[in-house]
Amino acid sequence: MTDPSLRKLIIAIDGPAGAGKSTIASRLARKLGYVNLESGAMYRALALCAIEWDASFDDEATLLKMAQDSRITLERTIGGNRVLLDGKDVSARIRERDVSEGASRVSVHPKVREWMVARQREMGIGGGVVMEGRDIGTKVFPDADLKVFLDADPLVREQRRLDQQRVEGAPAQAIASELRERDRRDRTRAASPLLAAEDAVVLDSTHMSEDEVLNRIEELVEQRLVARR
Ligand code: DC
Repeated sequence: MTDPSLRKLIIAIDGPAGAGKSTIASRLARKLGYVNLESGAMYRALALCAIEWDASFDDEATLLKMAQDSRITLERTIGGNRVLLDGKDVSARIRERDVSEGASRVSVHPKVREWMVARQREMGIGGGVVMEGRDIGTKVFPDADLKVFLDADPLVREQRRLDQQRVEGAPAQAIASELRERDRRDRTRAASPLLAAEDAVVLDSTHMSEDEVLNRIEELVEQRLVARR
């Protein structure tokens, strides 16, 4: 059997949109030499599939079949992560506003979630991963070695989203209200709502820089590694 102290960690980073999860998870993974798995990208790819096939975001049975029949791949490249849908690079397309809303809507369905969670477990089970999403610490890896719940004041999260999406020329008010609606849906859905796991370390990044958040998480990683020796 492998010496458990040599096994690489499973790190879960959950939190609402705009809290900075993606940037932090990707930087942390690069520093540790781990794989960064962005679970939201899988829900986004499924939403895009529904848009392309003109399927309803509310039709659970069709969405599940689409998830089973399509190939959603998270690929790591030197330039960062790529998301492929049936072999096509959709990394940029899935960040657009219609897909963001669709992802939040397709992810309310328990059977869709069950399928996604099973795939995410397969991808992360060997360790050496920083997986980010909404339910990683509560459902996907309830035994993760480190769970971080990254939060920030809603106004700050809205501002960060505005800064990211300004290039798209979208109206500020629309972006803010879409973020609020997505937040509400993610937190109040019946199946695995966005929630900090009981044993998660909650980090409020409202007044923290990206480097400060990263340093704090690195300290937590170090503590976990030391505790295991
Ligand atoms: O992290 P993100 O913004 O790319 O996620 C898009 C949507 O997918 C989000 O609104 C809710 C859903 N999601 C989820 O339900 N569970 C996850 N683990 C990740 C994302």
